[in-house]
Amino acid sequence: MEKLIIEGSRELVGQVTMSGAKNAALPLIAATLLAPGTHELTNVPDLRDTRTILAIISELGCVWRRQDSTLFIDSTNVDYSEVSYDLVKTMRASVLVLGPLLTRLGRAKVSLPGGCAIGERPINFHIHGFERLGVHCTLEHGYVEAWRDTELRGSTIHFDIPSVTATENLLMASVLARGTTVLKNAAREPEIGNLIEMLTNMGGDIEGKGTDQLTIRGVSKLKAARTAIIPDRIETGTYLMAIAAAGGQATITGCQPRHLPALLDKLMEAGVEIDCGSNSIKVNMDSQRRKRLKGVDIKTMVYPGYPTDLQAQFMALMSLSSGICVIKETIFENRFMHVAELRRLGAHIRTEGNSAVVTGRGPAGLSGARVMATDLRASSSLVIAALAASGRTEISRIYHLERGYENLVDKLTGLGARVWKENE
Ligand code: EPZ
Repeated sequence: MEKLIIEGSRELVGQVTMSGAKNAALPLIAATLLAPGTHELTNVPDLRDTRTILAIISELGCVWRRQDSTLFIDSTNVDYSEVSYDLVKTMRASVLVLGPLLTRLGRAKVSLPGGCAIGERPINFHIHGFERLGVHCTLEHGYVEAWRDTELRGSTIHFDIPSVTATENLLMASVLARGTTVLKNAAREPEIGNLIEMLTNMGGDIEGKGTDQLTIRGVSKLKAARTAIIPDRIETGTYLMAIAAAGGQATITGCQPRHLPALLDKLMEAGVEIDCGSNSIKVNMDSQRRKRLKGVDIKTMVYPGYPTDLQAQFMALMSLSSGICVIKETIFENRFMHVAELRRLGAHIRTEGNSAVVTGRGPAGLSGARVMATDLRASSSLVIAALAASGRTEISRIYHLERGYENLVDKLTGLGARVWKENE
């Protein structure tokens, strides 16, 4: 296994370009199963997770090739409907093939996704929605088996809480259903908007993009189409906070500032100087500003609230503030795995249930240490802390990082960081 070495306390300067969004690429690659033909997806990041979903659709009969950041996916011969445990256990988003397989083949058998470090991750909303469309589902021997006797029929589905992948699965299960489907209390993340754009390009009829109520009028057929993946807003937020934590002046390009309303507000409230263009964000964090970084409270919420996927990174940044803040995690039940590791770098954090109180140590408050990544976003919070810490930090189990951050070492090195990989 490899570890990441970071020599901290170096300002970040220059420019870095974001990749396409992991959490848009996964549902859009799954959506190619819906219609035969060669689909084209541009701005697709090359990540552990995108390679996993491509392995899954290959098992189902698809043939794909990559040309730089463009994927050509031929789903003409999708004839198999079972996804093995070995693939699903590495990525719970594999459940996103359920909706398209039910639409395309009328049946699907997918291993139940295990839980993961951040929580139990049930899929009851997905199952409930499918059953409302006339699907039969059984959960046996660790597998979800779903099938339909006749065509899928439109229905009204109300989500108890907005679920990103459940909303995506039900969009893909209803786009060719007979009649109209209404999804109420649907999630509104920009990645869902990207999927709606792709389904519309393919001939789908969907209203309500960006709102919590989606109306899907079933159409008779879909065709392969070309769609661009949106920039990764979580990667963008991670680099924003890395520059704010380490200090310096840098510009993030190839991003979508309007997808990060809550984070930008919180960073400006904390005293980070931010200047947004249409697809760029300039960050200025000189030494004076770093000394005055304020403690600012956050509470994670569904979009457009503060994203849970940027909670760990904000905690690392707040460890360098000159104040105190409270971080409340309301989406997942166990998303403080990074706290113990941040403490090893000198952070003062006290947790109580789903709240964490961070007492900032100031810009020079952290020092390098050996730490361990536990999940994707927790590992990026350790990178942020290590960039600001004095001395050397070694982060082990960095396969977590490689799930969601394309070319991390090159991008950080390009900003002047001293970072490299070594074998454990
Ligand atoms: C998506 O996961 C993202 N993954 C997650 O990003 C992200 O943290 C999460 O949305 C919340 O924004 C992808 O898009 C591939 P949810 P998802 O269903 O869809 C509960 C990352 O780091 N729930 O919106 O699985 C669930 O337990 C990953 O890139 C049910 O109870 O999350 C959670 O408490 C991590 N039953 C809440 O809803 C269900 O059937 C929101 O989860 C489904 C969800």
